[in-house]
Amino acid sequence: QNTVQLEFDSKQTIVINKHIYGHFAEHLGRCIYEGFYVGESNTTVPHTKGIRNDVVEALKKLQIPNLRWPGGCFADTYHWKDGIGSKESRPTIVNNWWGGVTEDNSFGTHDFLDMCELLETEPYLAGNVGSGEVQELADWVQYVNFSGRGPMSDLRKLNGRQEPWSVKFWGVGNEAWGCGGNMTADYYSDIYRKYATFMSDWGNSGGLYRVASGASSDDYNWTETLMKKIPSSLMKGVALHHYAVIDWSKKGPSIDFTEEQYFKTMKSAWFMNELVEKHSAIMDKYDPKGKIDLVVDEWGGWYEVEPGTNPGFLYQQNTMRDAMIAGMTLNIFNNHARRVKMANLAQTINVLQAVILTEGEKMLLTPTYHVMEMYKVHQDATLIPLKLTSEDFTFKDEHIPAVSVSASQNSSGQTHISLVNIDPKVAKKISVDMGEINAKAVNGRILTAKKLRDYNSFLEPQKISPQQFTAAVLNGGKIEVEIPPFSVIVLQVN
Ligand code: AHR
Repeated sequence: QNTVQLEFDSKQTIVINKHIYGHFAEHLGRCIYEGFYVGESNTTVPHTKGIRNDVVEALKKLQIPNLRWPGGCFADTYHWKDGIGSKESRPTIVNNWWGGVTEDNSFGTHDFLDMCELLETEPYLAGNVGSGEVQELADWVQYVNFSGRGPMSDLRKLNGRQEPWSVKFWGVGNEAWGCGGNMTADYYSDIYRKYATFMSDWGNSGGLYRVASGASSDDYNWTETLMKKIPSSLMKGVALHHYAVIDWSKKGPSIDFTEEQYFKTMKSAWFMNELVEKHSAIMDKYDPKGKIDLVVDEWGGWYEVEPGTNPGFLYQQNTMRDAMIAGMTLNIFNNHARRVKMANLAQTINVLQAVILTEGEKMLLTPTYHVMEMYKVHQDATLIPLKLTSEDFTFKDEHIPAVSVSASQNSSGQTHISLVNIDPKVAKKISVDMGEINAKAVNGRILTAKKLRDYNSFLEPQKISPQQFTAAVLNGGKIEVEIPPFSVIVLQVN
């Protein structure tokens, strides 16, 4: 009953941009402090200039293509000049958005950009439009990107960095409709034009990739207004934020969720498909040539904070449910790679749908980490369009597709097919018609668990990790496979 028809076409040129596999790190809870950064003194955690070595190693294995910073809501309160110069001279401020905690600015621009070099990833800086000034953001761009002589580039050199970092990705504010300033779409579009105009590219080849603060979920009017009012010369990306939640007024636990809560979370995650299609259709109307990209720079599951598990703001336990969200959402982005060119999972460490959790010297990889690691084969590969017929996953009288799939071919001619069965109880038989692809051998990896609510803990950090999967069978031009309940599989076809 579940069939996939691959429609490979050698003239097809849609590439799954590696930046779809991006990450997001905010000054929130224990994401930056304790997560990425432990400082250079008073710590027993092995580090390089205060950055945890274990985290760097784990993220390098994921080949993370970009990392967004410093927010989120924090970005529109952040004054970058607070975070440069000697650490002793940096002011201590209050992180008003996230718990009113003390922020000593010991992790600032140099710390972040040098860390990106360690991670071999591209930085994506989010500028302050909400409480900042045009000149302040223009100055940050000069500080970071200009090689010649200027007040800001000279200051950077004085602070020990001669060569610019040449940062391409810049967010012009964040959630301008909410924590970024409670603006209307019209007002934001007008001030966006002003900010973007003064963000010079300082002669860097390729120019800046400026991303406009985008819609919250299904606020289609927001996207429409931006597309109508901002020319493509000033805007390379339009953002979209959507979290998989049960219900914002109730939310739910991150471990002991009920069957209904599981269904609602999956339904909310699946809603991303409709969102991407509808926002893309609006963009197509104003930009038929596809000059402007859809940038989903915040996505993931958002549950209630569970007291007592692991302290920290917006900490939540990442279970097999999160692996389901990740597998399904990344398939949606892959399949819409024509318009979606970048996306950022919220957030990398200890916050929301984290890929890494830390506790003192200990670090563990979550089920979501393993999905990202299994899916990295799609980065910069050519999308293989497909048709899917799926059984439903039903709860009472509501239903969504139980199976999710995407496929790509890399430059060595290998095909990768990622399959997700979100049904918590029933295995799914899937028949994949390879179409024009001449399949000679198939093997794969699977991520699943004994129970849907299972997770990796500091006591059992390897409880959930990918295993070899040998049950896929080649039968003529088809692959026949049965995929267990709540599992993610990536097949490699040679
Ligand atoms: O990721 C947590 C928060 O969610 C971000 O700061 C904000 O942009 C969004 O509302």
